[in-house]
Amino acid sequence: MSPQRTIPQITAGGAKQVSVVEVGPRDGLQNERVRVPTATKVKFIEALAHAGLKRIEASSFVLPHAIPQLADAEAVFAQLHRQPGVRYSALVPNRVGLHRAEAANVQDIAVFTAATDTFVRHNIHMTLEASLAHFAPVVQEANERGMNVRGYVSTVFGCPYEGAVTPEQGIAVAERLFELGVQEVSIGDTIGVATPGDVIRWLRAAEKRLPLDKLALHFHDTRGTALANVLIGLEFGIRTFDATAGGLGGCPFAPGASGNLATEDLLYTLHGLGYETGVDLAKVVEASQVIAASLDHMLPSRYYQAARVASCLPLPR
Ligand code: COA
Ligand code: ZN
Repeated sequence: MSPQRTIPQITAGGAKQVSVVEVGPRDGLQNERVRVPTATKVKFIEALAHAGLKRIEASSFVLPHAIPQLADAEAVFAQLHRQPGVRYSALVPNRVGLHRAEAANVQDIAVFTAATDTFVRHNIHMTLEASLAHFAPVVQEANERGMNVRGYVSTVFGCPYEGAVTPEQGIAVAERLFELGVQEVSIGDTIGVATPGDVIRWLRAAEKRLPLDKLALHFHDTRGTALANVLIGLEFGIRTFDATAGGLGGCPFAPGASGNLATEDLLYTLHGLGYETGVDLAKVVEASQVIAASLDHMLPSRYYQAARVASCLPLPR
């Protein structure tokens, strides 16, 4: 008897379309030491849309001095040439942020909390419970205005302050966000600790209580497990994944968090498995090149690095 194989299910079952949510201009850039000029950000976002990415989190209407890297959110949205069919979103922490986003003609917003109380306190200066009450009117008002709202749950697989996190903690917060009226919840491994085993345990617990088709998985590649975790997500039927071009980013409130899963590495893997994303991988590399010139370090995406040294090889998929 051969052991039960799981990998063929990834290519056989479920929908073949995968949606990649590009969060580089927000989650990526908020954790870069350097300040990227507004014009470069705009060029980067336009290049991402040109590559075929249909959902781009372009900036954040948080307190400007809390995240100075994104203090130019208004200017970014004002200067951006928006491509039809692309949804540009922004993170908002409160009603002030929502109104700034509306004034900037932002289509969709994201609100954010976490699975652990200490992380929420550090991030937005209130308890986890208070954050849910605080976001209720924001979500309601955004929905009334026809915006899609995504809810982020950070620290689902581990917290820089509290350590281990149970599946129950993240699931309970995601349930509450859906009750508030968000259309999608992004499940975040903020510090990149999840292994495929953790993701299996989490999704087994979650599938009984949450609509998996309304979940996105958001992995950071701190310990090299992000792509393996994506494979587990695919097997459970998850079809939305967050990533950052070049593997930009981290989180300033999560010490030690390194870059997100890179969009290029995700696309290469998805396309190799036969999934359709509608995104042109070679053009994502071009977008990463736009931002790379402004950074003080090499972009960590493995595909991006391979493409740079071996541009004559048949790399794109
Ligand atoms: N945009 C601009 N100004 C804002 C604002 C926003 N979204 N939210 C609040 N302010 C202003 C208030 O109007 C107030 O101004 P005033 O002093 O002139 O009256 C001042 O900031 C303080 O407001 P308060 O509600 O007390 O906020 P705070 O200082 O406790 O900050 C947050 C709370 C959440 C708004 C702030 O910490 C923040 O934006 N953090 C960023 C978190 C983040 O992006 N983390 C990374 C994502 S994982
Ligand atoms: Zn993140």
